[in-house]
Amino acid sequence: MLQDCSTIHKPGVASPATCCNNSEVVKALHPLEVDLAPARPSALRLRNPVMPASGTFGYGVEYSQLIPLERLGAVVTKGITLVPWEGNPQPRLWETASGLLNSIGLENIGVEEAVADRAPVWASWQVPVIVNIAGHTIDEYVQVAEKLDGVAGVAGLEVNISCPNVAQGGIEFGTSPEMAARITSSVRRTTSLPLIVKLSPNVTDIVAIAAAVASAGADSLCLINTLRGTAVDVENRTFRLGRAAGGLSGPAIKPVALHMVHKVAHCVDIPVIGCGGISTAQDAIEFIMVGAAAVQVGTATFTEPRAMLSIVEGIQDFMDSHGILKLAEIRGIL
Ligand SMILES: Cc1cc2nc3c(=O)[nH]c(=O)nc-3n(C[C@H](O)[C@H](O)[C@H](O)COP(=O)(O)O)c2cc1C
Repeated sequence: MLQDCSTIHKPGVASPATCCNNSEVVKALHPLEVDLAPARPSALRLRNPVMPASGTFGYGVEYSQLIPLERLGAVVTKGITLVPWEGNPQPRLWETASGLLNSIGLENIGVEEAVADRAPVWASWQVPVIVNIAGHTIDEYVQVAEKLDGVAGVAGLEVNISCPNVAQGGIEFGTSPEMAARITSSVRRTTSLPLIVKLSPNVTDIVAIAAAVASAGADSLCLINTLRGTAVDVENRTFRLGRAAGGLSGPAIKPVALHMVHKVAHCVDIPVIGCGGISTAQDAIEFIMVGAAAVQVGTATFTEPRAMLSIVEGIQDFMDSHGILKLAEIRGIL
């Protein structure tokens, strides 16, 4: 079903956003296969639509002894920056009703160590590895993308645009269509790798941002990142996290994520990866029915490391029991 996308804001970037049903994006694939970069033939074809959400699966190597990675559609790494980041003060995690608050602050090893030490391991796996990248300035994102371009073991980039732009007073890149488009086109010019842009839900009009990013050259979108939140310790009269605010994830945010994926998937003509509170196959199928081509699983992995495997199997079982031959048959039907 097509929706009214007439309110889409189109910034001054190349081709205008088109309004189409996402279900036509993936064609002629095996039942669970998905293509996350249809404009670059075979560049990012996944055997199934299930992958970890960035930051909840380390660099993949931490889980390689726990679960057979080749049964996932892809591995997505935690955010990687130009130089190593130390992250935020402790405590960094706080459990909430049906959710988790985190203020990790993108602690990571930096792109040089990632290329030298992790990429050779990724290259030996039978699963594509998508590297999530972050930065303080557009130039930092561009430099990270440059250093990952052509590296064996790197199958694609996921650009986290929820970071504060230090050149613009700390406003998140992902909060304005113009800034989101600028960062997308800058990284796009730098690399021939498939490009997923991961959107922030902390905005007033996510469709406008999605359209701007799609027009600026993203191959696919991922949404949503965490919702800003906080928690208070009344006995100690302090915040529960070392930094007052953090990002909320887990089942608590699923309805918000589903709604945003529904709105965006029907208004862009590139694949949308749904993320936010997915912990069962039924959750994943809900996202597919509202238009997602694939799904990411984050917080659920902390309580059940094999959750993604159950989700892959559960999607297949659902298709078998409902006589569905291809995921495309149910994608975007709502
Ligand atoms: C501990 C933690 C670390 C995260 N780190 C990143 C990150 O490095 N880059 C990123 O784009 N998103 C990061 N996220 C956001 C997740 O990838 C995901 O968008 C969010 O948690 C919602 O999915 P979920 O409800 O399945 O966890 C992180 C989330 C958590 C809980």
